[in-house]
Amino acid sequence: MATMQLDGLLQKAKELEQQALQELQALSNTKLCEEFRIKYLGRKGQLAQLLDALKVLPPQERAAAGRALNLLKEMLTAELERRMVEFARLEEEARLRAEALDVTLPGRPQKLGSLHLITQVTKELEDIFVRLGFEVVTGPEVETDYYNFEALNMPKDHPARDEWDSFYIEGFEDLLLRTHTSPVQIRVMQERRPPVKVVVPGKCFRRDATDATHSPVFHQIEMLWVDKGITLAHLKGTILAFIEEFFGKNFEARFVGDYFPFTEPSLQVHVRRKGSPRWLEILGAGMVDPAVLQEVDYDPEEYTGFAFGLGVERMAMLKYGVDDIRTFYQNDIRFIETF
Ligand code: DAH
Repeated sequence: MATMQLDGLLQKAKELEQQALQELQALSNTKLCEEFRIKYLGRKGQLAQLLDALKVLPPQERAAAGRALNLLKEMLTAELERRMVEFARLEEEARLRAEALDVTLPGRPQKLGSLHLITQVTKELEDIFVRLGFEVVTGPEVETDYYNFEALNMPKDHPARDEWDSFYIEGFEDLLLRTHTSPVQIRVMQERRPPVKVVVPGKCFRRDATDATHSPVFHQIEMLWVDKGITLAHLKGTILAFIEEFFGKNFEARFVGDYFPFTEPSLQVHVRRKGSPRWLEILGAGMVDPAVLQEVDYDPEEYTGFAFGLGVERMAMLKYGVDDIRTFYQNDIRFIETF
């Protein structure tokens, strides 16, 4: 009986060996190898089951059968290991091949973004003023009533304040979004002694109804030059120089009288393409009012100055033939890519 069991067990081992060797030959990757290992060599695999069956054999037979099964196990393990190593190498090679970069391939051009037309025009104007000897400075977009109005010769009840419909900051009576870049004139003069020769680019905000030439957010560049002996001739010369530099010879400018509380005299400048019937107002300007100079402790007997504030959008519209200011803010990719 016992011998029968031993024979049966050895027979099973023989069959297992044949089948396992056959399957080993058919393996083709590490994943299948792992499945094979579990099926034959795992804790609950077929060999483990045979070894388990040893328990019923008498001790003298158990040793010999155990040795035979262990030899089989070692043989299958070694053989499997050999195949695993082989597949692992092939798979690694395939992975490296798939990941390989061909550094000799020609480059493909990437589409880069570009600066918004308003940014481009601002930079172009800054460059012109820097070449004329001005320094670029900036100031805050949220301003106090004092800098935006009061110090610019507009006390609280001044009727000219109506020109600048303002956005006030909720909960802060005294704070507003600046309606122009002129408050930076005051900030700069408070910090420096003359001569002062600066340009100030920046965003401005007004509670205007939106139309083709008005937007609640827009950009200005402020210019201020204070020194001994500055006259209206400097103002006109500087303005005509930068207009010609920016627009070229196909445009012309005219000066028209105006009123601003912070300049005396005050004027505005219109520009048009030569031959066009339509003038566009692009800036307000004037000789700095003595009251403004006094406000920052500059002696108006000793120093004079001129200033202007230009609308960047309007300059861009005129030069590039954009007929609606809203186009700048709609972010239509066809418009943006045109410039
Ligand atoms: N701040 C004025 C505005 O936004 C424009 C202006 C006029 C600026 C005269 C100046 C100036 O510096 O002198 O309407």
